[in-house]
Amino acid sequence: MPHILITGASSGIGAALARHYAAPGSRLRLVARDPDRLDAVAAACRQAGAEVETARLDVRDRAAVRCLLEEADARAPLDLVIVNAAINGGHPTGDVETEAVAFETADINLGGALNVMLPALTLMLGRGHGQIALMSSLAAFAPLPDAPSYSGAKAALLAHGLALREKVRARGVKVNVVTPGYVKTPMGGDYKGWRPFEMSAEAAAARIARGLARDRDIVAFPMRLAILARGAGLLPESLRRLGMHGFRFQIRKRR
Ligand SMILES: NC(=O)c1ccc[n+]([C@@H]2O[C@H](COP(=O)([O-])OP(=O)(O)OC[C@H]3O[C@@H](n4cnc5c(N)ncnc54)[C@H](OP(=O)(O)O)[C@@H]3O)[C@@H](O)[C@H]2O)c1
Repeated sequence: MPHILITGASSGIGAALARHYAAPGSRLRLVARDPDRLDAVAAACRQAGAEVETARLDVRDRAAVRCLLEEADARAPLDLVIVNAAINGGHPTGDVETEAVAFETADINLGGALNVMLPALTLMLGRGHGQIALMSSLAAFAPLPDAPSYSGAKAALLAHGLALREKVRARGVKVNVVTPGYVKTPMGGDYKGWRPFEMSAEAAAARIARGLARDRDIVAFPMRLAILARGAGLLPESLRRLGMHGFRFQIRKRR
């Protein structure tokens, strides 16, 4: 019975991943802040036959996150932890992000991710088994001028994850970095700009699950955009910057 913990499971890709893994015999721990949306996802997963528990918490609360991971793991060793919760940063008029937004984005997208990943890693190293998926973004390869703190946090997760992967794989722990392109989710809907090759959250979840099952170091998709984003890093900076003009956007103010 696989035991899977997913942060940011109340919406978008996290919710789609929860539904993807929900089946008789699977055990899910779903984490987010909004209890109603979390409960709705949990109900759908139970309907599909999974055993589900929810935890309402903010990933910035390091002590609470550690407590949850230790408690969940003590009940049944966690096989897979998907570090997915994030916000998008940016500015409603496309101006420079405010300091408050930049710090909040870094705190949730990087600090919050480390709060989940590091205790999970300690538990998994202790028993020599487990898998951690870090939800980064193609923005880690091709930083978005309108979302610097988002791009920075995602690049840090990519680097941290790949470095760690090398360090721990001989000890039985798999670390994978997921770098999606544009996915149709509430977060995705807040970007007012060009979103080429956008895919559904369900299709993204299926791609992610397949990549994780194959233990891919980087699960990057869709392929055409992934090639462009990764190739952009090889261009002279002046050319890369020019190309990024097509990807300018503003962030819709959240409800
Ligand atoms: N959509 C895209 O185009 C796209 C592209 C590349 C990468 N990604 C990445 O994919 C992941 C999921 O994004 P999404 O598009 O599915 O976004 P989403 O629909 O906005 O979902 C984000 C999730 O994160 C949770 N969350 C946010 N802040 C949190 C906090 N402080 N503590 C706990 N949970 C928190 C939200 O739940 P609550 O509000 O209930 O807490 C929600 O469940 C993110 O890491 C994102 O960066 C998305």
